Amino acid sequence: MAITFPDGFVWGTATAAHQVEGGNWNNDWWMWEHDPSSPCIDVSGDACDHFWRYPEDIALLADLGFTSYRFSLEWSRIEPEPGEFSVNALDHYRRMLASCHEHGLLPVLTYHHFTTPRWAVAGGGWLNRQTGEHLARFAERATQHLGDLVGMACTINEPNVVSILGHLLGTFPPGHVDGGEFTTANENLLRAHRLTYDAVKAGPGDFPVGMTLSMADFQAVDGGESNMERARHSMEDVFLEGARGDDYLGAQMYTRIRFGPDSPTPLANEEGLRTTLMGYEFWPQALEATVRRAADVFGGPLYVTENGIGCTDDAERIEYVTAALEGLDRCLQDGLDVRGYFCWSCLDNFEWAEGYAPLFGLIAVDRETQVRTPKPSAHWLGQVARTNTLP
Ligand code: GCO
Repeated sequence: MAITFPDGFVWGTATAAHQVEGGNWNNDWWMWEHDPSSPCIDVSGDACDHFWRYPEDIALLADLGFTSYRFSLEWSRIEPEPGEFSVNALDHYRRMLASCHEHGLLPVLTYHHFTTPRWAVAGGGWLNRQTGEHLARFAERATQHLGDLVGMACTINEPNVVSILGHLLGTFPPGHVDGGEFTTANENLLRAHRLTYDAVKAGPGDFPVGMTLSMADFQAVDGGESNMERARHSMEDVFLEGARGDDYLGAQMYTRIRFGPDSPTPLANEEGLRTTLMGYEFWPQALEATVRRAADVFGGPLYVTENGIGCTDDAERIEYVTAALEGLDRCLQDGLDVRGYFCWSCLDNFEWAEGYAPLFGLIAVDRETQVRTPKPSAHWLGQVARTNTLP
């Protein structure tokens, strides 16, 4: 039985500058990758050379059948020093936006996707309230140059991940493990979202603006409700509530997190469940669970701005995305306002501290030659996009 999605439903793929462009040396992540105390497996190096190869990549996405492309600006290229803006860099991203329009792809522009310029982290990064003002100033300048070509905008990608991994679990820069810092970073990131949202809305162009949020299917087992709810509150609810009134919320989900009664930290994966290259449970049910929760708590229009799986067997990607989209259809049948689906990721790319091993791409990239090879899942999901139908 085929599933047909609403007219105008947006079908896209997503990337982030630092994970695909190459040569992004002027930010905190480049420093972190080269810090011997960090857990980084690889350095990003040339990544997928997308800074130069984006024309062929965007053309390929259109040929496959997609109708949108989500990518991010690299703040440190555009504002290498505080208050000093590069028109060359702004023009580069203007050419990327124009390339999307040339190929009929709605461009979804992320202003901040995990990376922060060296000068801004030297000033305290997300522990400093002023970083939010710096991000808003950058967003204002970028929107002046790009706003007329933007289709949708994301202020900050997964602010909750920036704070939890950078300040509580310590796997992202600055690598701290401090509950007080985590709370401060959450507050400063939410404030940064508000300031950036206003700066983008005030500029040229008329397009939806929101944040994208990392979500999971939070579950309690054997009386773990209070532990689950406490974790979910600081990881998700503060942002879902803080985003209320925005034009949309980008829900991004991959798996499930379970809590028991005895500890505030999540339980290990359930015995016997398949896992992905990220060590996550193979849990496509996360899409329906998180979309329903975002609809409940945020209450406005939703897009699934990231969903996918790191796997070597591409057939597993098709299996996972099929099950996720069946859950999305159940949400739509119940009248939830979900307007698009973006697969993470367009290309196999630099998966942050895990490096290049987790293969999230619909399109394979040869690490030596940079040659792109669409996987069967790229042709399959592109056909879903072209027909707006899940076979
Ligand atoms: C995120 C980031 C992406 C990741 C993806 C896979 O959601 O964490 O937006 O940069 O690569 O999620 O882990």
